[in-house]
Amino acid sequence: MRTHEQTVQTQFDPRAQAYLTSAVHAVGPDLERAQVLVSKAVPAAAQALDIGCGAGHLSFALAPYVARMLAFDPSPGMLAAVAQTAAAKGLTGVETRQGNAESLPFDDCTFQLVCTRYSTHHWTRLQEAVREMARVLAPGAHALVIDTLGHEDPLVDTFLQSIELLRDPSHVRNRSGREWRSLLQSAGLLERESAEWATRLDFASWAERMRTPAERVAVIRSLQEGAPREVCEALVLEPDGSFTIRTGLFWLQKSA
Ligand SMILES: C[S@@+](CC[C@H](N)C(=O)[O-])C[C@H]1O[C@@H](n2cnc3c(N)ncnc32)[C@H](O)[C@@H]1O
Repeated sequence: MRTHEQTVQTQFDPRAQAYLTSAVHAVGPDLERAQVLVSKAVPAAAQALDIGCGAGHLSFALAPYVARMLAFDPSPGMLAAVAQTAAAKGLTGVETRQGNAESLPFDDCTFQLVCTRYSTHHWTRLQEAVREMARVLAPGAHALVIDTLGHEDPLVDTFLQSIELLRDPSHVRNRSGREWRSLLQSAGLLERESAEWATRLDFASWAERMRTPAERVAVIRSLQEGAPREVCEALVLEPDGSFTIRTGLFWLQKSA
């Protein structure tokens, strides 16, 4: 029987190229907003940490605004893709390191920016991980959390988490905006700005990116076909299974 950590590696290691070229990950209004926020508030000499960097899209977007961007992820396959792409892009400030969000191998107050994008829904001990983010941040420094959100309505939320887990066994949970605010506040991270966007997921590429087995795709499609109207409307469910979720951005500051 595998641990969750092993499942994460099995899921992500062979899929670095799929994430590197994924349109959902490579571009987005969240990346543009992140660049504006970081360029305005984070010093150019900053040491930055990108937790769950995946194929590196957030690291690459923010690297030009900081002195050093440490791309951090448990998957060696993802880290190899980041190193190769950073070299090809001439982003000399990008470095890589393997590890998990729940126990960061860094001293207190090391970073002037800690960021994470589309990764926290895989983390098993989110409260500990958010405390770790706050611990490694310097006083007064900023954190940026971007991820797909869960729903406040339990009917919609259970449906969403179910299809996410069927598609990818490394999925843990999309948290709602309310859950996020409570977690971040209890870790001492003060909200300075938040935003939400609709993110449309094309069914075929969403399943293909994780190489979801055909029998699981069939279960997802069967759940979708029987979905109640509330779920269809909230997730903007389309005839081919494509659907729309919300992406949340939280811009935070550790008290000085
Ligand atoms: C969808 S990818 C991230 C996408 C990327 N941040 C971007 O901007 O395109 C999710 C990543 O989270 C990583 N991950 C999963 N569990 C993690 C954990 N506990 N700590 C840190 N990273 C984790 C996975 O290995 C994977 O590379």
